[in-house]
Amino acid sequence: MTTSIWTPSSWRSKPIVQQPQYPDISALNHAEATLNNMPPLVFAGEINQLQNDLAKVAKGKAFLLQGGDCAESFSEFNADKIKDTFKVLMQMAIVMTFSASCPVVKVGRIAGQYAKPRSSDMESSNGIELPSYRGDIVNGIEFTNDARQADPERLVTAYHQAASTLNLLRAFSRGGFADLHQVHAWNQNFVTKSPLCKKYQNLADQIDQSIRFMEACGINATNTPQLHETSLYTSHEALLLGYEEALTRQDSLSGNWYDCSAHMLWIGDRTRQPDHAHVEFLRGVKNPIGIKVGPTTKPDDLEKLLAVLNPNNEAGRITLIARMGAEKITDFLPPLVRAVKNGGHQVIWSSDPMHGNTIKASSGYKTRSVDAILKEMKGFFEVHRAEGTHAGGVHFEMTGQNVTECIGGAYMISEQDLADRYHTHCDPRLNGEQALELAYLIADTLKAARQ
Ligand code: PEP
Ligand code: CO
Repeated sequence: MTTSIWTPSSWRSKPIVQQPQYPDISALNHAEATLNNMPPLVFAGEINQLQNDLAKVAKGKAFLLQGGDCAESFSEFNADKIKDTFKVLMQMAIVMTFSASCPVVKVGRIAGQYAKPRSSDMESSNGIELPSYRGDIVNGIEFTNDARQADPERLVTAYHQAASTLNLLRAFSRGGFADLHQVHAWNQNFVTKSPLCKKYQNLADQIDQSIRFMEACGINATNTPQLHETSLYTSHEALLLGYEEALTRQDSLSGNWYDCSAHMLWIGDRTRQPDHAHVEFLRGVKNPIGIKVGPTTKPDDLEKLLAVLNPNNEAGRITLIARMGAEKITDFLPPLVRAVKNGGHQVIWSSDPMHGNTIKASSGYKTRSVDAILKEMKGFFEVHRAEGTHAGGVHFEMTGQNVTECIGGAYMISEQDLADRYHTHCDPRLNGEQALELAYLIADTLKAARQ
């Protein structure tokens, strides 16, 4: 167990994987120093509020919806894209809240999801070998020598893009766009042609009716702000530790340290070694932490991680994000769920049905099938029902845009359709309509569990 003194830079003396090689270290130091002088993106009070909200999920009284891009990109950064992601998250949350009468904690993979772990350091094409693309915060996606060099200036660009994204999200959350009178307006244009559209419109009509009833009883946006505004928290994988350290601040009231780059941070499946740098960094910050749990995770590994990352067993601090694969989940998850339960650990179990189900289409595109995603999610819920534990959340790679990256769904996207609108910078995402379809299925499962 780690007992040494933690500082924001103590991770630097630990072994580390998945970091870029910067050719110009003084430029890197300069960029990190620049970020260190910038205002924080989020505040300690908001991070504590998220932990309180997540504590309710850990106790089975709410559900966590986490979703957004696999990798946010600099080139596809615009207000419409942020708005579409916000809308689809709101739609999904309202479907779950209304249909299952369950409060939903909304966390975006947004405003900081710029760094990607890679299975290989190098990528080869036509006999040329170049460093792999590691996300726009590190290098460029184009397959050229120039683009693939790690460029520290990108850290600063990422900070500014995260700041503008957050600014718009805060405006949407508080400025009236999230008002429950707007449920009809959140519907995506392209969904109007989908079989789901009518179902969503019916639900929106019922919500309208409920609001009119509540208003007649004197409950309105003036005395009940929840009707008019919402909280959408931000999250990303804490992968590029130089960026995370540079945005870490000590709260003057409590003396606690917070990584102010996002409300919640998670450790990826490739960087969760208990004695390595990523775990060292995250053990010292007060943010809620996600841990990706894959098919190679052993019950002992989880015990060690929980001892280091949540020594006081605080509810809401840890979200275990299972990403096993549709064929493995019912075999691999139960021993882990039992170990955590028997150890008395307060955690949220969430399902990432995306990362264990990536396949290569015959056309060469990386894709995922909605059927496999659904199968893993169902397996996740089944395991928790059998073990008597709370299936607390879901974690999706999704976008509000009408992309064709995952096959299946109500529009029956086929392998041949993938080329139409395949825009992701990394993994294939659910489009708005596919995401909404899953939200309905989750709502039905939650409703059944509550009954
Ligand atoms: C991700 O969430 O984008 C990711 C890379 O996941 P994992 O670490 O589970 O592979
Ligand atoms: Co991904």
